[in-house]
Amino acid sequence: MASAGRFALVTGGRQGIGAAVVRRLAEKGYSVAVADLPNRDETEEKAGVVPAGGAFFGCNVGDAEDVARAMGEVHAWVAECDPERSVGALDVVVNSAGVTRDAMALKVESATWDAVMEINLRGSFLMVRLKEASEGEWAGEQAIVNMSSIVALHGNVGQTAYCASKAGVVGMTKALAKELAPSGIRVNAVAPGFIATPMTAAVPDKVMAMMRQQIPLGEVGEADDIAAVVEFLASRDARYVTGAVIEATGGLFM
Ligand code: CAA
Repeated sequence: MASAGRFALVTGGRQGIGAAVVRRLAEKGYSVAVADLPNRDETEEKAGVVPAGGAFFGCNVGDAEDVARAMGEVHAWVAECDPERSVGALDVVVNSAGVTRDAMALKVESATWDAVMEINLRGSFLMVRLKEASEGEWAGEQAIVNMSSIVALHGNVGQTAYCASKAGVVGMTKALAKELAPSGIRVNAVAPGFIATPMTAAVPDKVMAMMRQQIPLGEVGEADDIAAVVEFLASRDARYVTGAVIEATGGLFM
């Protein structure tokens, strides 16, 4: 489905699943705002992080003030690109920024727990709330897609904070879906399994081998496998889908 003229914001768009989402949405004609930690050498365009017609916004999603500032900049960018629309009217927000701090539960410091919650859960909430507050009225045909994880639903050794944060994303997604449905805003989540990204590259070989054995489709997924699901949920084709958590896992933990 053509998506020209639609504006999307993707957090965590520098690498992994977020980067695949940026690429795919851009290919489908969206103008994409990429929000991620600012690059140390300011070469986002050169590094291919930002697609043609897109823009990069340095932002730490865990920092409320930083989110507010970046959202203001994103809104100004949208208004500049398309003076016809009301200030900042994004069509799609994809919350893909996330971190792991894997460790056995007894070794997890409370500061580590807080950092994971701050980025994975609170960061997604801040993005959505800021979008709503700054626009006053939602225009309908808009979609929010939150990145959860299959381990939110099934648990995983060494990931108490991560699993809790991603389970929080599921609850938040459903609550938001109910609150925003009257305004025509759909809110959904994706629960990826083990996907080839920098995040899974840090998993010990022994654990990866164990996981691989449990995947009925026999292989770890590609980031674009998840981007395809995000694209669907963001599109008008998903007009009757809200509050859903779509698993894309190769059948892991079926
Ligand atoms: N399932 C079953 N057993 C597991 C396991 C898993 N997922 N992960 C670790 N274990 C087992 C280990 O095999 C080991 O067992 P033995 O004592 O019998 O050898 C035991 O737990 C302790 O593990 P380690 O020896 O590795 O202990 P450690 O303290 O050195 O490291 C750890 C612990 C940091 C949790 C490390 O095991 C690890 O990184 N595990 C992988 C965690 C993981 O799966 N992360 C997913 C990242 S990708 C992601 O998060 C994306 C997503 O949404 C899915």
